Amino acid sequence: MKVLKTTKELTIFLSKESEDNVIAFVPTMGALHDGHISLIKNAKSSSDLVVCSIFVNPTQFNNSTDLEKYPRTIERDIEILEQENCDILYLPEVSDLYSENEKSKHFDFNGLDNFMEGAGRKGHFDGVATIVEKLFRIVNPDKAFFGEKDLQQLQIIRHITKQLNLEIEIIGVPTKREISGLAMSSRNKRLSETNLQKANLINETLHFIKENSSRYSPEELKQLSIHKFNNQSELKLEYLEIVSLENLHPITEFKERGNNAACIAASISGVRLIDNIIF
Ligand code: PAF
Repeated sequence: MKVLKTTKELTIFLSKESEDNVIAFVPTMGALHDGHISLIKNAKSSSDLVVCSIFVNPTQFNNSTDLEKYPRTIERDIEILEQENCDILYLPEVSDLYSENEKSKHFDFNGLDNFMEGAGRKGHFDGVATIVEKLFRIVNPDKAFFGEKDLQQLQIIRHITKQLNLEIEIIGVPTKREISGLAMSSRNKRLSETNLQKANLINETLHFIKENSSRYSPEELKQLSIHKFNNQSELKLEYLEIVSLENLHPITEFKERGNNAACIAASISGVRLIDNIIF
């Protein structure tokens, strides 16, 4: 695997490779886990050359403590990428992608950011879109891979890719799960065995919503689900929304099959978890 640390090196390398090769791109912030490995495997199976980036993007963090605390495991990440036969790792410094004091660009997400993560983490998606646009323009891939676990991020990236007229196919990869069904996340490592079990309520509730969607309305299911969280004290519900997959706005009636999503954010012992189900 080639490790390239500057935009210049990457651009020179890709200018020779991009003509005859299908280039797949997997942007990450490192601390790679099985969810990322699944993105790399998907990218590998449908392209000639896989570029993975590891960059902890400062503009998408709401506070500096979160940014500092973000896990950095670069040596382990490189081992994982080598095992997965990733072709290129792009590992830039902040100064390579941002000029001094540069802030996020403001995007129009057409309301996709009105609820859920967008409501609770002001400016977060502007930061994500800013870095994704920069990376897309540098790597200029044919395809880019993102996890469905971050559903709102995925839909927002699809939206800006169209808005910016970038000819990049955005591919959403299904969430990797523990045997229990809990969505894989680097944050799961911070949970005790007991809390890992308790966190399963997230996944169980999402399935409950999907399985009962022909019996109850979205609002009834939302109330029944909130009740499940209120019946215990460890897992604190931040939001539970049943939304249209198209615009990510809460719905009062279910759409056709495949066009609905239930999304949850909850925290346990200070560890914030998110998950969703599309149905
Ligand atoms: O999902 C992530 O890891 C990040 O939000 C992304 C897409 C790499 C942008 O920094």
